[in-house]
Amino acid sequence: SSDADGFKEKTLAMIKPDGVEGKYVDAIKEIILDSGFSITQEIERQLDDSTVKSFYAEHASKSFFSNLVQYMTSGPVRIMVIEKENAIADWRALIGPTDAKKAKVTHPDSVRALCGLNSERNCVHGSDSPQSAAREISFFFQKSQSGDDLTFHIHISL
Ligand code: PPS
Repeated sequence: SSDADGFKEKTLAMIKPDGVEGKYVDAIKEIILDSGFSITQEIERQLDDSTVKSFYAEHASKSFFSNLVQYMTSGPVRIMVIEKENAIADWRALIGPTDAKKAKVTHPDSVRALCGLNSERNCVHGSDSPQSAAREISFFFQKSQSGDDLTFHIHISL
C-alpha cells in the first residue's frame, strides 16, 4: 500500500538463525504480507564473521558483541527488503522489543513474542531509521541501473 503521494518506504527485514532453524520463515512472511508489506527482494545466506561484524559495526564495543557474532553466524539467515508506506517504523512495531522474553509479556502479538527467546535469540531484525535502512539494504542488495534492487552484494574481506 502507499499514501496519497504514492510513497512507499523500504526497510530491511531479517529472519535470524533461530527463526530459520525453527521453521518460522513461512509464518513470518505471512505476517509481513498480511500487514500490507510487499517483499521486493529475498535471499537466504550463511553469514560469515567479517560480514556480521561489518553489519553490526555500531555495536562493536558492546559487551554482547562476540555473542551476537557467534549467534548470527550459527546458521543461515533469510534477508528481505520489504516495502510499504511507513515500512521502517511499522516493521519495528510489528517485531516488538529487543528482549523477546519481555516481548512475550508486553507485546504478545509481536513477531519476537511468537518466535524469539531472549535479547540474543530474538528471531528477527529490522532497520531502526531511514539511515539504517538505506545502509542495510545496500549492504546486502545492489541496485540495477533502473534503480530496482537487483541482487545480493558479495561481501569480500581483503
Ligand atoms: S543498544 O545497546 O540499545 O544499541 O542495543 P539494542 O538495540 O538493544 O541491540 C542491538 C543489537 O544487538 C542485539 N543484542 C544482543 N545480542 C546478544 N546478546 C545480548 N545480550 C544482546 N542485546 C542486544 C540485539 O538483538 C540487536 O540486534 P538487531 O538485529 O539490531 O535487532
